[in-house]
Amino acid sequence: MADLPLRPQSLVVAAGRPPRAGGGPLNTPIVLAAPLHHGSGAIYTRHDGSDTIGSFEQAVGVLDGGEAIAFASGMAAVSAISEALPVGTVAVVPTAAYSGTLANFGEQQRLGRMALREVDITDPDAVVAALDGADLLWLETVTNPLLGVVDVPRLVAAARERSVVTVVDATFSTPLGFRPLEHGADVTLHSATKYLGGHSDLLMGVLVTGSQQRARELRERRAMTGAVPGALECYLALRGVRTLAVRFERAQASAGELARRLAADPRVTRVRYPGLPDDPGHAVARRTLDGFGAMIAFEIAGTAADAERLCESLRLITHATSLGGVESLIERRARHALDAERGTPPTLMRLSVGIEHVEDLWADLDRALAAGQ
Ligand SMILES: Cc1ncc(COP(=O)(O)O)c(C=O)c1O
Repeated sequence: MADLPLRPQSLVVAAGRPPRAGGGPLNTPIVLAAPLHHGSGAIYTRHDGSDTIGSFEQAVGVLDGGEAIAFASGMAAVSAISEALPVGTVAVVPTAAYSGTLANFGEQQRLGRMALREVDITDPDAVVAALDGADLLWLETVTNPLLGVVDVPRLVAAARERSVVTVVDATFSTPLGFRPLEHGADVTLHSATKYLGGHSDLLMGVLVTGSQQRARELRERRAMTGAVPGALECYLALRGVRTLAVRFERAQASAGELARRLAADPRVTRVRYPGLPDDPGHAVARRTLDGFGAMIAFEIAGTAADAERLCESLRLITHATSLGGVESLIERRARHALDAERGTPPTLMRLSVGIEHVEDLWADLDRALAAGQ
């Protein structure tokens, strides 16, 4: 397939399939085995993976332009980076980003393994000012949950000039919206639990790198820490990848429409969505991303309890954490202590727009906003 130039929308369907052999299956079977027969070199799936894991990795690797290593969750992928860094590492990390990642880095600092420089990663000058003498820069393409847009190309270039390793969590943008390795990043991270899997039925993570040596080290670490994903999860995640383009395109279109309606609604005090022309991240998003994504954050006048009531009163949209599935999910993020500590506004609701009909989604939001009046 390497000789066939395909667009990402075709790659999601075509990549990671078994060779075309007469009578052979179109999909890689679910290999349910821990040990493998001696004789070929591969002996145990924790060390060596399996065809099922490999097919998912092949597809994501092709999409992101590197070698992919799948993990048991997004956090296992985060840990594979953070716990492999030598004692004394200086890391430039976001002040506001996915709380689990920040907690993981906080723990490295608490254990005396790492010194953290916390910066607003949507402020490129602040990030560049923090890079001298650092070892690692951790970015998200679009931040969770504040939906700030990060100028990844500029920051990666500045980091490379200073030999700082960059890891970019591209979970919110997916390989369809942004491919960090094309801009010189060292590692791309996805929580495959979200858009890649796409059905809220699995936990997985994946790292992608352009360096064969780094890929080898990450595989060794995965084997050492036992963070290998299950075969069923890999099968489901690859099945999810097959429809990523259609799911993401539709969710993104609906998110744009809902964001516009919410922004025009007097019951809503603030909407954060990179596709809105007056959003602080709009110009960077236009320049760097293919599409504005399917995540919206909005706030209402009133209290945290009012926002919780709004989430509860929705009937089509589900009140639950996580994102990136076919079903729309909403959550008041400051209900999590770590997000509240990081300054997430008390009524900010993070809406992951799914693939339901946009008018049904709007009717649900409109009814819930009216009920709160
Ligand atoms: C941006 C981001 N990165 C990483 C993670 C961690 O992924 P997982 O829940 O698969 O461990 C999440 C989870 O919400 C996330 O939103």
